Amino acid sequence: MNCLEAIRKRSSCRDFSDKKVLPEDAEKLLEAGLASPTAINAQSLRFSLITDEALIQQISDRTYARLDAGRLQSMKDRQAKNLFYGAPLVLIISSVPSNYAAIDAGIATQSICLAAEQLGLSSCIIGMSRRSFEEDNPQHMRQILQMEEAERYLISIAIGYAQSRKEPHELSWDHVRRF
Ligand SMILES: Cc1cc2nc3c(=O)[nH]c(=O)nc-3n(C[C@H](O)[C@H](O)[C@H](O)COP(=O)(O)O)c2cc1C
Repeated sequence: MNCLEAIRKRSSCRDFSDKKVLPEDAEKLLEAGLASPTAINAQSLRFSLITDEALIQQISDRTYARLDAGRLQSMKDRQAKNLFYGAPLVLIISSVPSNYAAIDAGIATQSICLAAEQLGLSSCIIGMSRRSFEEDNPQHMRQILQMEEAERYLISIAIGYAQSRKEPHELSWDHVRRF
């Protein structure tokens, strides 16, 4: 699969099978993150690779505890196994704050999702998990993930083998301006 094919084939997976991700594939996902560009080559991103089922569930539970009724209902409507849709691997990207840290994390996120696609895996970017890392959350997981004092959660990615897949979203060509 070439890069363009991976870009077009990727879609958010919300139904993962129990099948584990091979350790060597997990390393390739990390490599994709580490190889991603960062503004002024700051390389401030930190990647937490989580395959411990209990820890994944703990992050999910602590976010669920902070979801409003609407969000809880939408997860129920999606028949979500948990916040990460039953994925056996979760990657959390964090950084000390800077002007470009969020953009750097976004770029690394897509690199990782495309690497996953290339490896026959599926992914779903999960923003909702930020609730498990909010400083005003007395049950936040920052220490458990050994984050430094100044380090902040940015985004997480659920990765695994799809049990069911949805089609990639339609392209909105009317969102393009040409000059
Ligand atoms: C920054 C960001 C945060 C997201 N957070 C969530 C999330 O918490 N839960 C979820 O199910 N999907 C989440 N998504 C996935 C989007 O809903 C999905 O990308 C969008 O619906 C388009 O679908 P596609 O990825 O299949 O093209 C997130 C995507 C992005 C880019």
